[in-house]
Amino acid sequence: MTELPLSGIKVIDFTGVQAGPACTQMLAWFGADVLKVERTAGGDVTRNQLRDIPDADALYFTMLNSNKRSLAINTKSPEGREVMEKLIREADILVENFAPGAMDRMGLDWETLQEWNPRLIFGSVKGFNEDSPWNDLKVYENVAQCAGGAASTTGFWDGPPTVSGAALGDSNTGMHLLIGLLTALIDRDRTGRGQKVAVSMQDAVLNLSRVKLRDQQRLDRVGYLEEYPQYPNGEFGQAVPRGGNAGGGGQPGWVLKCKGWETDPNAYIYFTVQEQNWKRTAEAIGRPEWAEDPDYSTAKARQSRIFEIFEEIEKWLADKTKYEAVDILRKWEVPCAPVMSMKELAEDEALRRSGTVVEVEQKGRGTYLTVGSPIKFSGFKPDIKGAPLLGEHTDDVLGALGYDAGAIAAMREKQIVI
Ligand code: COA
Repeated sequence: MTELPLSGIKVIDFTGVQAGPACTQMLAWFGADVLKVERTAGGDVTRNQLRDIPDADALYFTMLNSNKRSLAINTKSPEGREVMEKLIREADILVENFAPGAMDRMGLDWETLQEWNPRLIFGSVKGFNEDSPWNDLKVYENVAQCAGGAASTTGFWDGPPTVSGAALGDSNTGMHLLIGLLTALIDRDRTGRGQKVAVSMQDAVLNLSRVKLRDQQRLDRVGYLEEYPQYPNGEFGQAVPRGGNAGGGGQPGWVLKCKGWETDPNAYIYFTVQEQNWKRTAEAIGRPEWAEDPDYSTAKARQSRIFEIFEEIEKWLADKTKYEAVDILRKWEVPCAPVMSMKELAEDEALRRSGTVVEVEQKGRGTYLTVGSPIKFSGFKPDIKGAPLLGEHTDDVLGALGYDAGAIAAMREKQIVI
Protein backbone atom coordinates (compact mmCIF):
# COMPACT_ATOMS: atom_id res chain seq x y z
CA MET A 1 0.00 0.00 0.00
CA THR A 2 1.55 3.32 -1.02
CA GLU A 3 -0.99 5.49 0.79
CA LEU A 4 -1.43 4.71 4.46
CA PRO A 5 -5.00 4.84 5.82
CA LEU A 6 -4.53 8.16 7.63
CA SER A 7 -2.32 9.88 5.06
CA GLY A 8 -3.45 13.45 4.47
CA ILE A 9 -4.72 13.80 8.06
CA LYS A 10 -2.90 16.67 9.76
CA VAL A 11 -2.42 16.31 13.50
CA ILE A 12 -1.07 18.94 15.87
CA ASP A 13 0.43 17.00 18.73
CA PHE A 14 0.41 19.42 21.64
CA THR A 15 1.03 16.62 24.13
CA GLY A 16 3.64 15.52 26.61
CA VAL A 17 4.71 12.64 28.84
CA GLN A 18 2.84 9.46 27.84
CA ALA A 19 -0.97 9.57 27.56
CA GLY A 20 -1.17 12.06 24.69
CA PRO A 21 2.02 11.00 22.88
CA ALA A 22 0.97 7.32 22.85
CA CYS A 23 -2.22 8.32 21.03
CA THR A 24 -0.61 10.61 18.47
CA GLN A 25 2.24 8.16 17.83
CA MET A 26 -0.26 5.57 16.71
CA LEU A 27 -1.95 8.12 14.44
CA ALA A 28 1.49 8.72 12.90
CA TRP A 29 2.14 5.00 12.42
CA PHE A 30 -1.13 4.73 10.54
CA GLY A 31 -0.14 7.54 8.18
CA ALA A 32 -1.18 10.87 9.72
CA ASP A 33 1.21 13.82 9.50
CA VAL A 34 1.83 14.38 13.22
CA LEU A 35 3.53 17.61 14.20
CA LYS A 36 4.73 17.71 17.78
CA VAL A 37 4.61 21.27 19.11
CA GLU A 38 7.05 21.61 21.99
CA ARG A 39 8.37 24.14 24.46
CA THR A 40 11.65 25.73 23.44
CA ALA A 41 13.12 25.01 26.88
CA GLY A 42 13.89 21.31 26.55
CA GLY A 43 10.72 20.28 24.74
CA ASP A 44 8.62 17.40 26.04
CA VAL A 45 9.89 16.69 29.57
CA THR A 46 10.45 13.05 28.71
CA ARG A 47 13.31 14.00 26.36
CA ASN A 48 15.35 14.57 29.47
CA GLN A 49 13.87 12.04 31.89
CA LEU A 50 15.68 8.80 32.83
CA ARG A 51 18.40 9.31 30.23
CA ASP A 52 20.66 6.34 29.60
CA ILE A 53 22.98 8.26 27.22
CA PRO A 54 23.98 11.73 28.50
CA ASP A 55 23.24 13.87 25.42
CA ALA A 56 20.68 11.74 23.62
CA ASP A 57 16.90 12.03 23.97
CA ALA A 58 15.72 9.51 26.56
CA LEU A 59 14.06 6.26 25.51
CA TYR A 60 10.99 7.51 27.36
CA PHE A 61 10.67 10.13 24.63
CA THR A 62 11.81 8.14 21.60
CA MET A 63 9.48 5.22 22.37
CA LEU A 64 6.41 7.49 22.40
CA ASN A 65 7.18 9.95 19.63
CA SER A 66 8.35 7.96 16.63
CA ASN A 67 7.24 8.92 13.11
CA LYS A 68 6.46 12.52 14.20
CA ARG A 69 7.94 15.90 13.27
CA SER A 70 8.94 18.53 15.85
CA LEU A 71 8.32 22.26 15.99
CA ALA A 72 9.86 23.97 19.04
CA ILE A 73 8.02 27.21 19.68
CA ASN A 74 6.90 29.42 22.55
CA THR A 75 3.17 29.41 21.97
CA LYS A 76 2.67 32.02 24.68
CA SER A 77 4.42 34.72 22.63
CA PRO A 78 2.26 36.71 20.16
CA GLU A 79 4.29 35.32 17.24
CA GLY A 80 3.97 31.78 18.59
CA ARG A 81 0.24 32.16 18.99
CA GLU A 82 -0.03 33.42 15.41
CA VAL A 83 1.82 30.30 14.22
CA MET A 84 -0.53 28.11 16.27
CA GLU A 85 -3.54 29.83 14.73
CA LYS A 86 -2.22 29.19 11.22
CA LEU A 87 -1.53 25.54 12.04
CA ILE A 88 -4.93 25.05 13.66
CA ARG A 89 -6.75 26.59 10.70
CA GLU A 90 -5.21 23.86 8.48
CA ALA A 91 -5.35 20.93 10.91
CA ASP A 92 -7.73 18.00 11.17
CA ILE A 93 -6.91 17.07 14.76
CA LEU A 94 -5.34 18.87 17.74
CA VAL A 95 -4.46 16.77 20.77
CA GLU A 96 -3.38 18.09 24.18
CA ASN A 97 -2.86 16.69 27.67
CA PHE A 98 -1.75 19.69 29.67
CA ALA A 99 -2.72 20.41 33.26
CA PRO A 100 -6.35 21.54 33.67
CA GLY A 101 -6.84 25.11 32.45
CA ALA A 102 -3.51 25.38 30.60
CA MET A 103 -5.13 25.54 27.15
CA ASP A 104 -7.52 28.25 28.30
CA ARG A 105 -4.64 30.23 29.80
CA MET A 106 -2.90 30.08 26.41
CA GLY A 107 -6.06 31.44 24.77
CA LEU A 108 -6.61 28.11 23.02
CA ASP A 109 -9.99 27.30 24.52
CA TRP A 110 -12.46 25.11 22.64
CA GLU A 111 -14.58 28.10 21.54
CA THR A 112 -11.58 29.81 19.93
CA LEU A 113 -10.48 26.59 18.25
CA GLN A 114 -13.96 26.08 16.78
CA GLU A 115 -14.06 29.65 15.57
CA TRP A 116 -10.74 29.21 13.79
CA ASN A 117 -11.59 25.82 12.33
CA PRO A 118 -15.06 24.30 12.69
CA ARG A 119 -13.80 21.04 11.15
CA LEU A 120 -11.13 20.62 13.82
CA ILE A 121 -11.33 17.59 16.10
CA PHE A 122 -9.95 18.49 19.50
CA GLY A 123 -8.64 15.63 21.65
CA SER A 124 -8.04 16.32 25.31
CA VAL A 125 -6.74 14.15 28.15
CA LYS A 126 -7.14 15.09 31.80
CA GLY A 127 -6.79 13.16 35.03
CA PHE A 128 -10.50 13.46 35.85
CA ASN A 129 -13.54 14.27 33.76
CA GLU A 130 -15.25 17.66 33.91
CA ASP A 131 -17.92 16.53 36.37
CA SER A 132 -15.38 15.31 38.89
CA PRO A 133 -14.75 17.23 42.13
CA TRP A 134 -11.06 16.56 41.40
CA ASN A 135 -11.10 18.02 37.90
CA ASP A 136 -8.45 20.59 38.83
CA LEU A 137 -5.83 17.97 39.75
CA LYS A 138 -2.66 17.21 37.88
CA VAL A 139 -2.43 13.48 37.39
CA TYR A 140 0.22 10.90 36.55
CA GLU A 141 -0.06 7.19 35.87
CA ASN A 142 -0.24 5.78 39.38
CA VAL A 143 -2.60 8.48 40.60
CA ALA A 144 -5.02 7.38 37.90
CA GLN A 145 -4.62 3.69 38.72
CA CYS A 146 -5.53 4.49 42.32
CA ALA A 147 -8.46 6.73 41.37
CA GLY A 148 -9.85 4.35 38.74
CA GLY A 149 -10.22 1.19 40.85
CA ALA A 150 -7.20 -0.73 39.54
CA ALA A 151 -5.03 -0.32 42.66
CA SER A 152 -7.69 -1.25 45.23
CA THR A 153 -8.32 -4.51 43.38
CA THR A 154 -4.70 -5.41 42.57
CA GLY A 155 -2.23 -7.19 44.83
CA PHE A 156 -2.70 -9.50 47.78
CA TRP A 157 -5.34 -9.23 50.48
CA ASP A 158 -2.76 -8.79 53.25
CA GLY A 159 -0.85 -6.05 51.40
CA PRO A 160 -1.60 -2.46 50.38
CA PRO A 161 -3.34 -1.37 47.16
CA THR A 162 -0.90 -2.06 44.33
CA VAL A 163 -0.35 -0.43 40.97
CA SER A 164 0.29 -2.42 37.80
CA GLY A 165 3.45 -2.17 35.75
CA ALA A 166 1.25 -1.74 32.67
CA ALA A 167 0.39 1.88 31.84
CA LEU A 168 -3.32 1.64 32.54
CA GLY A 169 -3.50 5.35 33.30
CA ASP A 170 -1.26 6.69 30.55
CA SER A 171 -1.05 4.64 27.35
CA ASN A 172 -4.45 3.11 27.98
CA THR A 173 -6.02 6.57 28.14
CA GLY A 174 -4.20 7.46 24.93
CA MET A 175 -5.69 4.40 23.23
CA HIS A 176 -9.18 5.39 24.39
CA LEU A 177 -8.60 8.84 22.98
CA LEU A 178 -7.46 7.32 19.68
CA ILE A 179 -10.75 5.45 19.37
CA GLY A 180 -12.60 8.69 20.09
CA LEU A 181 -10.63 10.67 17.52
CA LEU A 182 -11.15 8.12 14.77
CA THR A 183 -14.87 8.03 15.60
CA ALA A 184 -15.01 11.83 15.39
CA LEU A 185 -13.21 11.71 12.01
CA ILE A 186 -15.87 9.38 10.63
CA ASP A 187 -18.59 11.60 12.11
CA ARG A 188 -17.00 14.66 10.49
CA ASP A 189 -17.30 13.00 7.08
CA ARG A 190 -21.05 12.91 7.69
CA THR A 191 -21.61 16.27 9.40
CA GLY A 192 -18.74 18.41 8.17
CA ARG A 193 -18.04 19.46 11.75
CA GLY A 194 -15.36 18.57 14.23
CA GLN A 195 -15.97 18.01 17.91
CA LYS A 196 -14.18 17.87 21.23
CA VAL A 197 -13.17 14.38 22.35
CA ALA A 198 -12.28 14.27 26.03
CA VAL A 199 -10.97 11.26 27.93
CA SER A 200 -10.06 11.20 31.58
CA MET A 201 -7.47 8.85 33.00
CA GLN A 202 -9.76 7.85 35.88
CA ASP A 203 -12.50 6.89 33.41
CA ALA A 204 -10.12 4.96 31.16
CA VAL A 205 -8.74 2.98 34.12
CA LEU A 206 -12.26 2.27 35.37
CA ASN A 207 -13.22 1.04 31.92
CA LEU A 208 -10.47 -1.58 32.21
CA SER A 209 -11.60 -2.38 35.75
CA ARG A 210 -15.12 -3.10 34.50
CA VAL A 211 -15.20 -6.68 35.83
CA LYS A 212 -14.44 -5.40 39.32
CA LEU A 213 -17.56 -3.23 39.18
CA ARG A 214 -19.37 -6.42 38.18
CA ASP A 215 -17.93 -8.07 41.29
CA GLN A 216 -18.94 -5.15 43.53
CA GLN A 217 -22.56 -5.64 42.58
CA ARG A 218 -22.36 -9.40 43.06
CA LEU A 219 -20.77 -8.85 46.46
CA ASP A 220 -23.48 -6.37 47.44
CA ARG A 221 -26.14 -8.91 46.50
CA VAL A 222 -24.77 -12.19 47.86
CA GLY A 223 -22.01 -11.20 50.30
CA TYR A 224 -19.21 -13.29 48.80
CA LEU A 225 -17.32 -13.89 45.55
CA GLU A 226 -16.72 -17.55 45.00
CA GLU A 227 -13.83 -17.20 42.56
CA TYR A 228 -11.75 -15.13 45.01
CA PRO A 229 -9.20 -16.83 47.31
CA GLN A 230 -11.13 -15.43 50.29
CA TYR A 231 -13.92 -17.91 49.52
CA PRO A 232 -15.09 -19.98 51.38
CA ASN A 233 -12.99 -19.60 54.54
CA GLY A 234 -11.90 -15.93 54.52
CA GLU A 235 -13.81 -12.79 55.29
CA PHE A 236 -15.41 -10.46 52.76
CA GLY A 237 -15.81 -6.79 53.60
CA GLN A 238 -17.94 -4.14 51.92
CA ALA A 239 -15.75 -3.65 48.85
CA VAL A 240 -14.24 -5.96 46.23
CA PRO A 241 -11.05 -7.28 47.81
CA ARG A 242 -7.63 -7.82 46.28
CA GLY A 243 -7.61 -11.32 44.86
CA GLY A 244 -3.90 -11.97 44.36
CA ASN A 245 -3.44 -13.87 41.12
CA ALA A 246 -6.89 -15.40 41.00
CA GLY A 247 -8.52 -15.66 37.57
CA GLY A 248 -11.00 -12.86 37.05
CA GLY A 249 -13.65 -14.82 35.21
CA GLY A 250 -15.33 -18.12 35.89
CA GLN A 251 -12.12 -20.14 35.45
CA PRO A 252 -9.85 -20.42 38.51
CA GLY A 253 -6.17 -19.81 37.88
CA TRP A 254 -2.97 -18.93 39.69
CA VAL A 255 0.69 -18.17 39.12
CA LEU A 256 2.55 -21.42 39.83
CA LYS A 257 6.22 -22.11 40.56
CA CYS A 258 8.30 -24.00 38.02
CA LYS A 259 11.82 -25.44 38.11
CA GLY A 260 14.30 -22.78 39.17
CA TRP A 261 11.88 -20.43 40.96
CA GLU A 262 14.24 -20.28 43.96
CA THR A 263 16.74 -18.23 41.97
CA ASP A 264 14.81 -16.95 38.94
CA PRO A 265 12.08 -14.47 39.93
CA ASN A 266 10.16 -15.25 36.74
CA ALA A 267 10.29 -19.07 36.74
CA TYR A 268 6.51 -19.33 36.89
CA ILE A 269 3.56 -20.09 34.64
CA TYR A 270 -0.01 -18.93 34.78
CA PHE A 271 -2.20 -22.01 34.98
CA THR A 272 -5.94 -21.94 34.33
CA VAL A 273 -8.31 -24.68 35.42
CA GLN A 274 -10.80 -24.53 32.61
CA GLU A 275 -14.02 -26.19 33.66
CA GLN A 276 -14.81 -27.80 30.31
CA ASN A 277 -11.26 -29.14 30.10
CA TRP A 278 -11.01 -30.64 33.59
CA LYS A 279 -10.63 -34.27 32.47
CA ARG A 280 -7.69 -33.46 30.21
CA THR A 281 -6.21 -31.09 32.80
CA ALA A 282 -6.23 -33.86 35.40
CA GLU A 283 -4.54 -36.20 32.92
CA ALA A 284 -1.98 -33.56 31.97
CA ILE A 285 -0.79 -33.11 35.54
CA GLY A 286 -0.65 -36.85 36.24
CA ARG A 287 -3.80 -37.05 38.36
CA PRO A 288 -6.26 -38.77 35.95
CA GLU A 289 -8.24 -40.15 38.90
CA TRP A 290 -9.37 -36.58 39.72
CA ALA A 291 -11.47 -36.57 36.57
CA GLU A 292 -14.04 -38.92 38.12
CA ASP A 293 -13.47 -38.36 41.86
CA PRO A 294 -16.55 -36.50 43.16
CA ASP A 295 -14.27 -34.44 45.43
CA TYR A 296 -12.63 -32.99 42.33
CA SER A 297 -14.77 -33.66 39.30
CA THR A 298 -16.97 -30.53 39.43
CA ALA A 299 -16.04 -26.88 39.64
CA LYS A 300 -18.09 -26.57 42.83
CA ALA A 301 -16.25 -29.46 44.49
CA ARG A 302 -12.90 -28.02 43.46
CA GLN A 303 -13.65 -24.55 44.81
CA SER A 304 -12.74 -25.25 48.42
CA ARG A 305 -9.74 -27.38 47.35
CA ILE A 306 -8.37 -25.08 44.70
CA PHE A 307 -5.16 -24.22 46.57
CA GLU A 308 -4.56 -27.86 47.40
CA ILE A 309 -4.94 -28.56 43.66
CA PHE A 310 -2.50 -25.78 42.79
CA GLU A 311 0.01 -27.21 45.29
CA GLU A 312 -0.27 -30.59 43.60
CA ILE A 313 0.29 -29.00 40.21
CA GLU A 314 3.37 -27.24 41.58
CA LYS A 315 4.76 -30.66 42.59
CA TRP A 316 4.24 -31.76 38.97
CA LEU A 317 5.96 -28.56 37.77
CA ALA A 318 8.96 -28.89 40.11
CA ASP A 319 11.20 -30.62 37.54
CA LYS A 320 10.00 -28.65 34.49
CA THR A 321 11.05 -25.22 33.30
CA LYS A 322 8.23 -22.83 32.51
CA TYR A 323 8.77 -23.40 28.78
CA GLU A 324 8.79 -27.21 29.16
CA ALA A 325 5.64 -27.06 31.25
CA VAL A 326 3.79 -24.95 28.68
CA ASP A 327 4.93 -27.27 25.88
CA ILE A 328 3.33 -30.20 27.68
CA LEU A 329 0.21 -28.38 28.82
CA ARG A 330 -0.57 -26.93 25.40
CA LYS A 331 -1.12 -30.51 24.13
CA TRP A 332 -3.84 -30.90 26.75
CA GLU A 333 -5.36 -27.55 25.85
CA VAL A 334 -4.71 -26.05 29.26
CA PRO A 335 -4.89 -22.22 29.00
CA CYS A 336 -1.45 -21.25 30.26
CA ALA A 337 1.66 -19.19 29.50
CA PRO A 338 5.10 -18.65 30.94
CA VAL A 339 5.57 -15.53 33.04
CA MET A 340 7.74 -13.57 30.61
CA SER A 341 10.43 -11.20 31.86
CA MET A 342 11.14 -7.98 29.97
CA LYS A 343 14.53 -9.43 29.03
CA GLU A 344 12.86 -12.45 27.46
CA LEU A 345 10.33 -10.29 25.62
CA ALA A 346 13.09 -8.04 24.29
CA GLU A 347 14.90 -11.08 22.89
CA ASP A 348 11.83 -12.94 21.64
CA GLU A 349 12.25 -13.89 17.98
CA ALA A 350 8.53 -14.28 17.27
CA LEU A 351 7.71 -10.81 18.61
CA ARG A 352 10.43 -9.42 16.33
CA ARG A 353 9.02 -11.31 13.33
CA SER A 354 5.53 -9.95 13.94
CA GLY A 355 6.73 -6.38 14.30
CA THR A 356 5.47 -6.17 17.87
CA VAL A 357 9.03 -5.54 19.04
CA VAL A 358 11.03 -3.48 16.56
CA GLU A 359 14.54 -2.15 16.34
CA VAL A 360 14.59 1.49 15.31
CA GLU A 361 17.39 3.79 14.17
CA GLN A 362 17.53 7.00 16.19
CA LYS A 363 19.68 10.07 15.55
CA GLY A 364 22.30 10.45 18.28
CA ARG A 365 21.62 7.04 19.73
CA GLY A 366 22.08 4.22 17.21
CA THR A 367 19.39 1.58 17.41
CA TYR A 368 16.95 0.89 20.20
CA LEU A 369 14.01 -1.40 20.76
CA THR A 370 10.45 -0.25 20.89
CA VAL A 371 7.00 -1.79 20.89
CA GLY A 372 5.58 -1.56 17.38
CA SER A 373 1.95 -1.73 16.41
CA PRO A 374 0.03 -4.36 18.37
CA ILE A 375 -2.68 -3.98 15.73
CA LYS A 376 -1.98 -6.05 12.61
CA PHE A 377 -3.60 -5.03 9.31
CA SER A 378 -3.87 -7.16 6.20
CA GLY A 379 -3.44 -4.09 3.97
CA PHE A 380 -0.30 -2.51 5.43
CA LYS A 381 2.39 -2.90 8.04
CA PRO A 382 3.22 0.24 10.02
CA ASP A 383 6.83 1.26 9.45
CA ILE A 384 8.21 2.44 12.79
CA LYS A 385 10.82 5.16 12.40
CA GLY A 386 12.85 7.29 14.81
CA ALA A 387 11.59 10.25 16.85
CA PRO A 388 12.38 13.86 15.87
CA LEU A 389 15.07 15.94 17.54
CA LEU A 390 13.75 19.03 19.32
CA GLY A 391 12.82 21.60 16.69
CA GLU A 392 14.12 19.41 13.86
CA HIS A 393 11.32 20.55 11.57
CA THR A 394 10.85 24.13 12.78
CA ASP A 395 12.18 25.69 9.55
CA ASP A 396 10.19 23.36 7.28
CA VAL A 397 6.96 23.98 9.16
CA LEU A 398 7.33 27.77 9.32
CA GLY A 399 8.45 27.88 5.67
CA ALA A 400 5.34 25.97 4.62
CA LEU A 401 3.21 28.48 6.55
CA GLY A 402 4.73 31.31 4.47
CA TYR A 403 7.45 32.63 6.80
CA ASP A 404 10.61 33.54 4.90
CA ALA A 405 14.13 32.85 6.12
CA GLY A 406 14.49 36.36 7.56
CA ALA A 407 11.30 36.10 9.59
CA ILE A 408 12.32 32.68 10.92
CA ALA A 409 15.78 33.98 11.86
CA ALA A 410 14.16 36.89 13.72
CA MET A 411 11.98 34.49 15.70
CA ARG A 412 15.01 32.35 16.47
CA GLU A 413 16.94 35.44 17.58
CA LYS A 414 14.14 36.28 20.04
CA GLN A 415 14.14 32.60 21.21
CA ILE A 416 10.54 32.19 20.14
CA VAL A 417 11.56 29.13 18.16
CA ILE A 418 14.53 26.82 18.11
N1 COA B 1 5.10 27.23 24.77
C1 COA B 1 4.83 27.92 25.89
N2 COA B 1 4.26 27.34 26.97
C2 COA B 1 3.97 26.04 26.89
C3 COA B 1 4.23 25.28 25.74
C4 COA B 1 4.82 25.92 24.64
N3 COA B 1 5.12 25.28 23.51
N4 COA B 1 3.82 24.01 25.98
C5 COA B 1 3.34 23.99 27.23
N5 COA B 1 3.43 25.20 27.80
C6 COA B 1 3.03 25.60 29.14
C7 COA B 1 1.59 25.37 29.45
O1 COA B 1 0.79 26.33 28.86
C8 COA B 1 1.61 25.44 30.96
O2 COA B 1 1.60 26.79 31.35
P1 COA B 1 0.73 27.36 32.57
O3 COA B 1 0.98 26.44 33.72
O4 COA B 1 1.30 28.72 32.77
O5 COA B 1 -0.67 27.37 32.14
C9 COA B 1 2.98 24.90 31.33
O6 COA B 1 3.71 24.84 30.09
C10 COA B 1 3.04 23.53 31.97
O7 COA B 1 2.12 22.64 31.40
P2 COA B 1 1.98 21.12 31.88
O8 COA B 1 2.94 20.27 31.17
O9 COA B 1 0.59 20.71 31.76
O10 COA B 1 2.31 21.21 33.43
P3 COA B 1 3.09 20.26 34.44
O11 COA B 1 4.40 19.82 33.92
O12 COA B 1 3.11 21.00 35.70
O13 COA B 1 2.11 18.99 34.59
C11 COA B 1 1.05 16.93 34.09
C12 COA B 1 2.30 17.80 33.92
C13 COA B 1 1.23 15.70 33.23
C14 COA B 1 0.88 16.52 35.56
C15 COA B 1 -0.20 17.72 33.63
O14 COA B 1 0.04 18.16 32.33
C16 COA B 1 -1.50 16.95 33.67
O15 COA B 1 -2.08 16.69 34.71
N6 COA B 1 -2.01 16.61 32.46
C17 COA B 1 -3.31 15.97 32.30
C18 COA B 1 -3.27 14.50 32.62
C19 COA B 1 -2.13 13.81 31.91
O16 COA B 1 -2.10 13.73 30.72
N7 COA B 1 -1.20 13.27 32.72
C20 COA B 1 0.00 12.66 32.22
C21 COA B 1 -0.27 11.36 31.72
S1 COA B 1 1.17 10.67 30.99
